[in-house]
Amino acid sequence: MKKISKWILLLLLLFVLVGYMTDLSSSKEITSIKEFENDRSQSLLSPNRIVNIAHRGASAHAPEHTLVSYEYAQKMGADYLEIDLHMSADGELVAIHDQSLERTTNHQQLVSEMELKEIKALDAGSWFNQKNPSVANDNFAHLDVPTLTEVIEHFGNEANYYIEIKTPKLYPDMIDKLLEVLSAHDLLRKDRREGSVIIQSFSAEALQQVHKHDQSIPLIQLLKQPPEDPNAIKQYAVGVGINFKSLDLQSITELRKADLLVHAYTVNQPDEMRKLLEWGVTGIFTDYPDLLAGILG
Ligand code: G3P
Ligand code: CA
Repeated sequence: MKKISKWILLLLLLFVLVGYMTDLSSSKEITSIKEFENDRSQSLLSPNRIVNIAHRGASAHAPEHTLVSYEYAQKMGADYLEIDLHMSADGELVAIHDQSLERTTNHQQLVSEMELKEIKALDAGSWFNQKNPSVANDNFAHLDVPTLTEVIEHFGNEANYYIEIKTPKLYPDMIDKLLEVLSAHDLLRKDRREGSVIIQSFSAEALQQVHKHDQSIPLIQLLKQPPEDPNAIKQYAVGVGINFKSLDLQSITELRKADLLVHAYTVNQPDEMRKLLEWGVTGIFTDYPDLLAGILG
């Protein structure tokens, strides 16, 4: 009897050891690098497609959010034109990142304090020439702040738009206006290419409000770092946009397991792009869509 229990004990020990080794080898997998694949025949929302998101246009090459910056982005092979939105005093949606006009124009007021015709009169390019003399261009000084409507009318229905609702508390009418503009340009039709318009925001409330109007719009939850509960986000969003500095193989693997797309912002160094792609991100926001297009082949 004693002999039998010795054998049982030995067998148990063996099971524990094998279990431990398997665990070790699977955690090894998590730290290993894999080749990334980009299947461009797949939908923009497919986990097998890696999307090149031109952050504020090709904003390393031309003044951010201008039509020229978006034109460069398209020529450089970007899949998406990324657009941040604010609202003028007379309720028009304009493509601009900051609440204030100070950094990217020759005027210091808030966007929300000025009427559209006053905003349109500003110079939205000279700041870029001063800041980036190596790529400065005299023509940039004539560029203005475009409205969302102007961007859409310039690039049409063939372009893909990745639109951010900024500071929604400041603009209670922004979501209604945004959906009105998209709808007026046929961008919310159910028979459109999947993922041709994505709405992103740091505000989960704003995203959920979008879905109250139209459940079919794909949403990206912006975050500064990986979420504690990816499954909660999966309830309303197709994916997350996360600061690339807070991502690693482990967190990306967990997000992908929760069936979320993972778009990393804002990545401008080729070695960082490669590392994130090897870790499994499904999209990258970059000021250099040309660099990313080169890496994605
Ligand atoms: O929208 C993703 C990324 O653009 C968020 O950062 O500040 O550039 O809008 P920000
Ligand atoms: Ca943005």
